Formats: sequence, C-alpha cells, structure tokens
Amino acid sequence: MALRDIIIIPDARLRAVSAPVERIDDDTKRLMDDMLETMYDAPGIGLAAIQIAVPKRVVVLDVAREGEEPQPLALANPEIVWFSPEMRVYQEGCLSIPEYFEDVERPARVRARYLGRDGAVRELDADGLLATALQHEIDHLNGVLFIDHISRLKRERVWKKFVKAARREAEGGPHAHPHHDEREM
Ligand code: NI
Repeated sequence: MALRDIIIIPDARLRAVSAPVERIDDDTKRLMDDMLETMYDAPGIGLAAIQIAVPKRVVVLDVAREGEEPQPLALANPEIVWFSPEMRVYQEGCLSIPEYFEDVERPARVRARYLGRDGAVRELDADGLLATALQHEIDHLNGVLFIDHISRLKRERVWKKFVKAARREAEGGPHAHPHHDEREM
C-alpha cells in the first residue's frame, strides 16, 4: 500500500467526471487499498479516487469514531438507487477543501448499489453520517463539490481564498496547515 497526494481546489481535475471501473482487478484493489490508507492518514472519513487524481469511479469510506471498530468500505461504480424524502443537515468538510466547513442539506437516508472489492454487486442502506458521506463522495465522481450545495456568495469566497493560497504557494511564500478536529471527506 502507498500514501497518495490529495489534490485540493482550485485544481481543475476535481471537476472531471470519473469513468466507470470495468472490473475489479488487482489494479482496482491496489487503488482501493491506497485510498483507504491515504484517507486514514489524512485523516478523513471518505475519499474519492479523483481526489488522488485518478478519474475512476471508486470511493472509500469509514465513518467509525475514534475508539470504535473500523468499518472500511471500498465501493466501485457506486450509484444511489433510492433517496429518502426526508432531509438532514450536516456540517460537511472535504479533504480537497481543507479547513472549510459548511452546512449542507441532503436526503437523510439513501440506498446505494456498487461493486465490492470482491467484484460482487452489493447494496448498502445508509443513514446518518454514512448517508451524507456517501452522497458527498458520489458527487466527487461527477465533478461536484460540497460547496456547490451552498450559497454562491459563500462558494465564491472560499474559492477565491484557495486561488490566492495556490498563487502564494507557487510564489514560494508561507502557508499554514493548522490542526483541526472536524471530520473531512
Ligand atoms: Ni470531499
């Protein structure tokens, strides 16, 4: 397994629509394993392949809290096949938009269909944080970020901040990576 670099906005690759995985071969399994390792290291509760610049429809998740038994999930070609009518608001964060958190409203429960690491077609009923994280990661596969679900004013503000930071970094200036406790995905 290997740690991969996570790309952040304004990297244009985050807007790519990822391609389906044709079958779960050794490369796909290695990708899933690398993604889980990278997600745990970040640390985060979810990661889509495009966040490590691989435009394939693969996501990993683990919403277990510290001290709880890990619940790693690796999903290829995940699709939401059912959304609950009731909604839920959660303060989301994203490893590709570090240190930024904002409330997003999404369906409270979903059912997803996907290919598991063993190649089998599976279904997953999710509620709570897992339902939110699953929708957040599937959005990534379609080039959608959680800031697309907030007001345009807030989105433009955070986007500009990251454009400026990228420019500063390119010029070799100082940049801060403060510690945080919130959970990103
Ligand atoms: Ni994210």
